[in-house]
Amino acid sequence: MKKKFDLNAPYQPKDFKFKGKKKVEEIIARYPKGRQQSAVMPLLDLAQREVGADGLKLNPPVGGWIPRAAMDHIAEVLDMPAMRVYEVASFYSMYNMEPVGKYLLQVCTTTPCWLCRSDDIMKAVKDTTGLSHNYETTKDGYFTLIEVECLGACTNAPMVQINDDFYEDLTYDRMVEILKSLQNDEIPEKGPQNGRLNAMAKGGPTSLEEQAKKAGISAA
Ligand code: FES
Repeated sequence: MKKKFDLNAPYQPKDFKFKGKKKVEEIIARYPKGRQQSAVMPLLDLAQREVGADGLKLNPPVGGWIPRAAMDHIAEVLDMPAMRVYEVASFYSMYNMEPVGKYLLQVCTTTPCWLCRSDDIMKAVKDTTGLSHNYETTKDGYFTLIEVECLGACTNAPMVQINDDFYEDLTYDRMVEILKSLQNDEIPEKGPQNGRLNAMAKGGPTSLEEQAKKAGISAA
């Protein structure tokens, strides 16, 4: 569940404008005439990314989030009531309604991940960053922790989403290594962390073996 947010909080900037018209126009043009309001979600995403790009220059750094001014600007651009934009932004979990850290750690603790020891992953986060509560951010602005529901990568449980990337087949030790790399701004390789290819069994294909052979796919 999303945390309650404050549209009048002191950290809310007064103004927001997209950095350029070109990208905004290109997004709106994807939708039929008269249906430009359908562009609300990609424009929210664009706003979050632009705010995040500026936030990384701050000290401490701030990751991508959506200020009220950005939602109001999107409402103007799409000629729709601001409330409709607030409703969309506050419903979907990928939109951050308040400042977050440079690296947003979304730890999945739903049943398949939990059965594969997501508790260890939470412990690794706590031991390495000190974070233990939802939406808590480290003082250096590097990490924000969110405990999330299934992210659709159960085959590779336990897993964590860090900003846009999935880190899968995690263990306590590997999660600690990943976090330590990020503390040094080294981005670890995303995907499965146990050497397997995507969601394939570690020993190689167990179904469609002929097709896999033809495609040159074998054990990682
Ligand atoms: S339960 Fe964690 S990704 Fe599905």
